[in-house]
Amino acid sequence: MMKVYLVGVGPGHREYITLKAVDTIKGADIVVGSRRALELFQVEGDRRYTLSKDVVGDLRKVIDYCRREGKSVAILSTGDPCFSGLLKTLLRYNIVGKEEIEVIPGISSIQVAASKLKISWEDYHIVTLHGREENRKLLLDLVKNNKKVIFLPSNLKEDILYLMENGIEGDREIVICENLSYPKERIVRCKLRDVLHLDLSYLVVCVID
Ligand SMILES: C[S@@+](CC[C@H](N)C(=O)[O-])C[C@H]1O[C@@H](n2cnc3c(N)ncnc32)[C@H](O)[C@@H]1O
Repeated sequence: MMKVYLVGVGPGHREYITLKAVDTIKGADIVVGSRRALELFQVEGDRRYTLSKDVVGDLRKVIDYCRREGKSVAILSTGDPCFSGLLKTLLRYNIVGKEEIEVIPGISSIQVAASKLKISWEDYHIVTLHGREENRKLLLDLVKNNKKVIFLPSNLKEDILYLMENGIEGDREIVICENLSYPKERIVRCKLRDVLHLDLSYLVVCVID
């Protein structure tokens, strides 16, 4: 019978991978993930499947194959699969049933950001705009009401422009945690308006107090 493991692989550096993730991946017949997730592991070519931009189509293909052949599959999800990760994709598109999945949690980029900044994340509202631009309004309302927010941007410059065009002062402070756990990790503290001139990677977690 097919077995599906949805494995959180952490923010990107090997040091943040759990032993459970390593063991699960070792034991799986097929291992599927983004290039960034797969490069953390040494998976032989005949077990490895790299996701293209068509994540939903690819996951369907792999799951259909594993169902037919009765194989086990480890689906790698960066950070934690239950936060803005592949759990939602698998369930929303009915690629696999909830009862068929075992989730192995991973360390989220949010947790790493909180530890770098030494803040307690239960004091913050957590918002993801990643693939969910409709959450910009939610972010705006929180910032307007001076709530503390940790957010994953969709397109950071556009998100900041949206805030400023909708009444948030450009001199509000923001902290940007970029490339967490990678050699190019950087923590930038600046004003909202300054973000428009920064050259940033897409791997950022932002905090507004
Ligand atoms: C599809 S979401 C996945 C979130 C992931 N499930 C988690 O728990 O961190 C991808 C976004 O997470 C954030 N992210 C993931 N890894 C990161 C890292 N190493 N450094 C900074 N941000 C990261 C970025 O905002 C990125 O665009």
